[in-house]
Amino acid sequence: MTVRPLVILPDSQLRLTSKPLAGADKDVRKLVDDMFQTMYDAPGIGLAAIQIGVPLRVVTMDVSKRDDKQEPMALLNPEIVWKSEEMREMEEGCLSIPEYYETVERPDRVRLRYRDIDFKEREIEADGVLATCIQHEVDHLNGVLFIDYLSKLKRDRVMKRYAKLARMKDDEA
Ligand code: NI
Repeated sequence: MTVRPLVILPDSQLRLTSKPLAGADKDVRKLVDDMFQTMYDAPGIGLAAIQIGVPLRVVTMDVSKRDDKQEPMALLNPEIVWKSEEMREMEEGCLSIPEYYETVERPDRVRLRYRDIDFKEREIEADGVLATCIQHEVDHLNGVLFIDYLSKLKRDRVMKRYAKLARMKDDEA
């Protein structure tokens, strides 16, 4: 297992649409292992493969509380098949937009169809943090970021800040 470098805003890879998997071979298992390692190391509660530069429809998540037992979930080809009309607001962050948090409104509950690590089809219904996390991560697979739900003013401000940080980093290198 390897901690892989994270793709950070404004890297344009974050806007790619990721491709579905045809199966879960050894390479996919290695990718999932690396994603868990990278996610726990950060630490974060969710990671999409594109956040380590791999444009495949793979998500890792663990929304267990800090002192509880770990509950790792690997979602291959996840697809939201139902969203509640009822909405909920929650503060979100993203490993690709470090140290930025903002409240986002999303459907309160979702039903998710996905393949597990054995490529077996599964379906779950989620609410609360899990529902928010699922929607945030599935968005990544479609090149969508949580800042896209903010006002243009806020989004422009964030884009500007991270573009500046990236330039400063390039200057240092
Ligand atoms: Ni994210």
